[in-house]
Amino acid sequence: MTVLWLWVVCALLLGTCNADLSPALSASDQLRSDITSLVTDLWKDVSDPRWVAMADEGLGGAAKELLRAFQVLGDKLEGVSPHPKVAPALSSLWAWARAESDIVTIEGLYRTFRHYQKGLPRSEITWTDMATTVLHDPTRSVPRALTSLHNITVDTTDGDLFQQALEEINSNTCSFQQSPQLVIYNLYSSITLTELKGYAMMQFSWMLLRLYGKGNFTLEAEMMHRTYKERALVKLEAARAAMKFASRHMWQCDPHEHEEGKTYERLTRLLQGHIQNEVDLNSENSCGENCAYYTYAKDPGCFDSRVCNRMPRCAGKLHDCRYIDSDMWICEAEKNSSRRYEGIRYENGQKLGQYHSCQNKREYKVDSWWRWLFWHCSYCFCLCDEQGPNSDRFFNLRPIVADTNNNMVITGMRFTKVKRVIHLQIREGQLEPFGGINASSIRWRPVDNYSITDPKVENGKDYKTLSWEQRAIDLDDLEAPPGHVLTGVRFRPVGTHLNLEIMVSPFNFTSGNLIKPQEQAMWIGNDNTDASDKPRTQLELPNADVPVKSPTGSVPDSHTDQFLLFDHSDLSNDAAQTTIPFLDAQLTEPQPPALLAGAGIYHKGTVGYGGFVAPKLITYDYSKHMKIQFPD
Ligand SMILES: *[C@@H]1O[C@H](CO)[C@@H](O)[C@H](O)[C@H]1NC(C)=O
Ligand SMILES: *[C@@H]1O[C@H](CO)[C@@H](O)[C@H](O)[C@H]1NC(C)=O
Ligand SMILES: *[C@@H]1O[C@H](CO)[C@@H](O)[C@H](O)[C@H]1NC(C)=O
Ligand SMILES: *[C@@H]1O[C@H](CO)[C@@H](O)[C@H](O)[C@H]1NC(C)=O
Ligand SMILES: *[C@@H]1O[C@H](CO)[C@@H](O)[C@H](O)[C@H]1NC(C)=O
Ligand SMILES: *[C@@H]1O[C@H](CO)[C@@H](O)[C@H](O)[C@H]1NC(C)=O
Repeated sequence: MTVLWLWVVCALLLGTCNADLSPALSASDQLRSDITSLVTDLWKDVSDPRWVAMADEGLGGAAKELLRAFQVLGDKLEGVSPHPKVAPALSSLWAWARAESDIVTIEGLYRTFRHYQKGLPRSEITWTDMATTVLHDPTRSVPRALTSLHNITVDTTDGDLFQQALEEINSNTCSFQQSPQLVIYNLYSSITLTELKGYAMMQFSWMLLRLYGKGNFTLEAEMMHRTYKERALVKLEAARAAMKFASRHMWQCDPHEHEEGKTYERLTRLLQGHIQNEVDLNSENSCGENCAYYTYAKDPGCFDSRVCNRMPRCAGKLHDCRYIDSDMWICEAEKNSSRRYEGIRYENGQKLGQYHSCQNKREYKVDSWWRWLFWHCSYCFCLCDEQGPNSDRFFNLRPIVADTNNNMVITGMRFTKVKRVIHLQIREGQLEPFGGINASSIRWRPVDNYSITDPKVENGKDYKTLSWEQRAIDLDDLEAPPGHVLTGVRFRPVGTHLNLEIMVSPFNFTSGNLIKPQEQAMWIGNDNTDASDKPRTQLELPNADVPVKSPTGSVPDSHTDQFLLFDHSDLSNDAAQTTIPFLDAQLTEPQPPALLAGAGIYHKGTVGYGGFVAPKLITYDYSKHMKIQFPD
């Protein structure tokens, strides 16, 4: 009642929500509707006495007309785009392997059928044999294969095929380059298409036999049509039920081997462990306090130049200074490393970082000392927040938009670092009818490779610089309203946080065209902050070691409405030398390509390691287009 009323209001006042309440059919459902009504019309022809009269004229007559009609129908079936492709990883599923053998039977007969249509004129006997095989072959008849395929698909002993597929995807995510819902949709479309081929062959066979005067067959054809309709409904319901619980989110698993610049990027020296003597922490060169007293101090000098000249300086702010022990050996890092130290070994035995691998020539000793007998000038362990050529800490703020003027939409995404700036880079592809993407049109959109040293490029406008105070990134899933696809992404600063926004554009599913993207595209973000009624929560990453050292693969561990702080790695494992989390530079993109209805930023990792910040994709909800329409 409510829905009906809504629809009336929509249709009368707005004229636009039609698309949402009554979405167009999916490619395979549209094809079923077209082909079943074509077959219904053909039955009318075949029963027409004039056609029957033509049949007597031999092969040049009605049989030829019928063949031509089914050739057109076959071209339609083969031209279906997007052509559904069942995920190869499903082959590990026993039920699917069995279903596949029925599919192979039907597809094999169908190829012969098509071959016969295209070749030389065939004799009546050839065609009658073909029809008899299709209808009655004891081992590989089409009705038998269709029944078996249907039985396997809806057999509920271990859950129907779609539910089993869903379980398989959820337990084996890394083998599927698709969202779970997309896998089910492609499976459904693929089965629908095979069944249609079987349906068409059986209907053709009866019509042909009838034309050749081998019987009436209207009853058989009608019964088959009814069974086909019932089964289609059952499968549709089963597929939709599975898709209802199937996630549309897609994330990328870790690569076999991590490689900087290729599979991951990172910020450098945002906050880094740093050793500094108390005497240099204040401008009076006094040692009258303790390490913890100094916070936000700026490194003002070098009192004992003999030692402090060898030690790396911190020309930024120091935070969180603490006293660990008086005397220590320091293992300095390689000259062009983003680390200050490989590790530190205190006289009390405590070790920070990778001390065991230190080579002798990079090691030196520093000892705290007494001044005027009662002031202890200790070496403190602090965090250094120093900007400079060694510290990459910039995020691109410029929008990244697909070429919507040429009907392009986003198909995939990754992080990349270009000229020290972290960018989201997109892949784009041309939208096609029925929610398809032209696979050969897919390309990377080049990164806007500006340099932060360019005087025309502004901090805060073109890019954001992270610091101790400003190093949060929001973790959100953003989704387009129905009838829209993903066409752009950008980061914006919200308070001290980096926050993702997506650009979505309305489109016509059936025609595959963006609708006035220049005027109708809109930006969507999650404005929630950590100071609201239902505040964002922080994702903590305690004792985080360097992410690429993790022996096991990362799994997503954040949810929407969270944020995390870019931070230093663990003190004892890594001497706080690495900035974590890293950024995933692998491409996230469904294979085969599919429409996207949203995107997000999330964190994946393992306990005890810093993990990765990565883009996720939300695939378009095709289930709304799954419907059955039959001729009356
Ligand atoms: C044969 O089929 C036609 C419809 O085409 C039907 O009207 C007729 O009753 C059938 N004849 C027999 C003998 O079943
Ligand atoms: C399909 O299932 C029905 C009912 O469970 C059964 O009678 C029939 O033998 C099955 N057919 C095939 C080909 O598996
Ligand atoms: C400096 O870095 C480059 C590449 O980043 C590396 O190939 C080279 O070995 C490094 N040099 C030293 C002395 O570590
Ligand atoms: C698909 O994209 C390719 C490459 O851009 C183009 O040549 C081709 O015409 C496109 N196909 C369709 C059907 O638009
Ligand atoms: C920057 O990007 C443009 C366009 O993609 C490219 O032609 C150019 O070579 C790039 N410049 C540098 C310095 O990488
Ligand atoms: C979408 O495109 C189809 C085919 O071009 C057209 O028939 C239909 O009216 C369009 N739908 C909307 C809502 O514009």
